[in-house]
Amino acid sequence: MKERILIIGSLNMDMVIEMKRMPLKGETVLGNTLTYVPGGKGANQAYTSGKLGGAVVMLGCVGTDSLGEKLIGNIARSGTDASHIRRVEEEPTGTAVIYVDEEGDNSIVVVSGANGACDVEYLKENHSLFEESAYVMFQMEIPYEAIFYGIRKAKELGKTVVLNPAPAPDTLPEDIWESIDYLTPNETEVLKMSGQREMSMEGIKRGARCLLQKGVKNILVTLGDKGVLFINDKEEVLYPARSVEALDTTAAGDCFNGAFVAGLAEGMSVEEAITFANLASSVAVTRKGAQSSIPDREEVDELVKENCNVDKGGRL
Ligand code: RIB
Repeated sequence: MKERILIIGSLNMDMVIEMKRMPLKGETVLGNTLTYVPGGKGANQAYTSGKLGGAVVMLGCVGTDSLGEKLIGNIARSGTDASHIRRVEEEPTGTAVIYVDEEGDNSIVVVSGANGACDVEYLKENHSLFEESAYVMFQMEIPYEAIFYGIRKAKELGKTVVLNPAPAPDTLPEDIWESIDYLTPNETEVLKMSGQREMSMEGIKRGARCLLQKGVKNILVTLGDKGVLFINDKEEVLYPARSVEALDTTAAGDCFNGAFVAGLAEGMSVEEAITFANLASSVAVTRKGAQSSIPDREEVDELVKENCNVDKGGRL
């Protein structure tokens, strides 16, 4: 039986501008195209988990404008329960301006808008969803007090807590570290949170070990085309990425997170869930946009069959 997943986080309408290269400070460049795509880290993760077959419910806030309606509609189409997403009068739906260059790399500016209304009160109103879920996942695009309240509540109820620390905070309150079962930073986020500077595999491992010492149980560092580093106090394993031609890396990390928790919730081992999520995000980077880039279940299952070596415990 599938265990239920609660994902709490942001919903944004992404305005994606494709360009040859990013503008330098003070420079004007001409863009090629402007497209509107449903995004937001929380919504992208919920959309992924739902599309891959998870029993997911999302909490988050949008405005009463038409963008909000579109975002809720898209989430619901993934199979995720979007009925508890709150619509607020005071603020417009969150938006993100995303620059994507010829290499598929991106830079993102988020204007939070209604995401700021995802507060402690709203989470309290939806307490029953915490009770009904086995996994509770957060990112960092909603007010921090709500995230910390949600993590403490989930832990108190004995749930598995997943935190994708994006965008990365400088640090977290002392008691939060030890409430996290899975922390899923990318390489820059793990360095920032651990105060390490060296952008090398050794620097990243040192940073991750530092966060383990603060009490986090497991860390998965997403490393782009290098794969995922899984580290806890017993093991350190690098899961290599499937080699693909990246077109747009937007939401690749969200796809990884959504797929990872969906895998765990349907009973995969951690190793299997990482491989499953690694393959899902290898597809996402070959497609444009955030939610528009997420593969469906059949595609990922096909890749698992083609790429996994049973003798290596199902790894690539
Ligand atoms: O992780 C990608 C997401 O970050 C985008 O969809 C954008 O909305 C920002 O939240």
